[in-house]
Amino acid sequence: MAENQRVTSFAPRIADWQTRAGRHGLPWQGTRDPYRIWLSEVMLQQTQASTVIAYYERFLALFPDVTALAAADPDTVMHAWAGLGYYARARNLQRCARILAYETNGCFPRTAQALAQLPGIGPSTAAAIAAFAFGAREPILDGNVKRILARYFGVVGDPSTRAVEQNLWSLAHAVLEAAPADLDMTAYTQGQMDLGALVCTRHQPDCARCPLNASCHARQHGQQHLLPTPRQRRARPERSCLMLILECQGHLLLHKHASPGIWGGLWGLPQFDTPDALRAACGTMGVAGGDTDSDEPSRLAGISHAFTHFRLHIEPWWLRANACRLPAPGPNEAWVPITRLGATALPAPLEKLLGGLYPPSDANPDEGGVN
Ligand code: ADE
Repeated sequence: MAENQRVTSFAPRIADWQTRAGRHGLPWQGTRDPYRIWLSEVMLQQTQASTVIAYYERFLALFPDVTALAAADPDTVMHAWAGLGYYARARNLQRCARILAYETNGCFPRTAQALAQLPGIGPSTAAAIAAFAFGAREPILDGNVKRILARYFGVVGDPSTRAVEQNLWSLAHAVLEAAPADLDMTAYTQGQMDLGALVCTRHQPDCARCPLNASCHARQHGQQHLLPTPRQRRARPERSCLMLILECQGHLLLHKHASPGIWGGLWGLPQFDTPDALRAACGTMGVAGGDTDSDEPSRLAGISHAFTHFRLHIEPWWLRANACRLPAPGPNEAWVPITRLGATALPAPLEKLLGGLYPPSDANPDEGGVN
């Protein structure tokens, strides 16, 4: 196939394929409402569609439009997001909703360029929103599209490096500029996402089903497993901390994580570097040691959680204090009734840990918990 035909046919072949064989029943499809599209694209930034669906529907039921999201209590927003990870997305979502509600009467800008000025909307997300909501002729470049372009055009080099990413953006623009004027932007944009998720997958791509297979560089040269060039991975650093599960009078002492931060805006457990520091804090609160009749905190089985840039080992320590009054909480701390844990925005590993210790059916916290 002539080189210019490889370029001109790229987008229409993907759009035709999407119409015939792509995904059509996802809950964020079939709408032009920019709020719904924006919400889905932000949720889908680092999370698979199958995980997003339930969160998306629950979120929309709680916050049906920009005004509702802008007016919501940030804790309620974080709670609706808890478990999806990458919590800066939820904080930016509400910042963005507030900007739109107060400055533009809840209306979204219609161009990718203007959308990309808003918090949490990068250039590819901005282009996807503009294409889906307003039919804008703008290219996207998420991880799936980088893989498709790198294979199709034989682009060597790590796509997360600036130079290679710039090259891929140029190709994304070039294939769109070369496409026919009547290209269906919804089908093309969704088609790139669907092709990357269903056919041109990272491992074992299904080239037989690919609409680009006749002129794909990687396929012609048997380089599907070599492209895109994998990132040089450094070993993920390991960190560890101790967390105190302090139970008193049917309450747990929780700590609100500062924003920004990895768990910013979520509630967590008080954290310590050493057992001595943890015991000292219990002593200072008057819930262990000294002349109190509470037990000493005891160590529970550890858990670990992988973040993008490091792995965190958590060593939980548990203490049920016998104090007859709840000790005064420190700054950014609160005593939360165990019965309210299910309604509290907790990071996923802590939700699992505390959910295991205090199952939601424990109507009477005095009888439940750790024995
Ligand atoms: N990933 C990013 N955007 C998506 C969309 N609209 N549908 C499915 N997966 C996606």
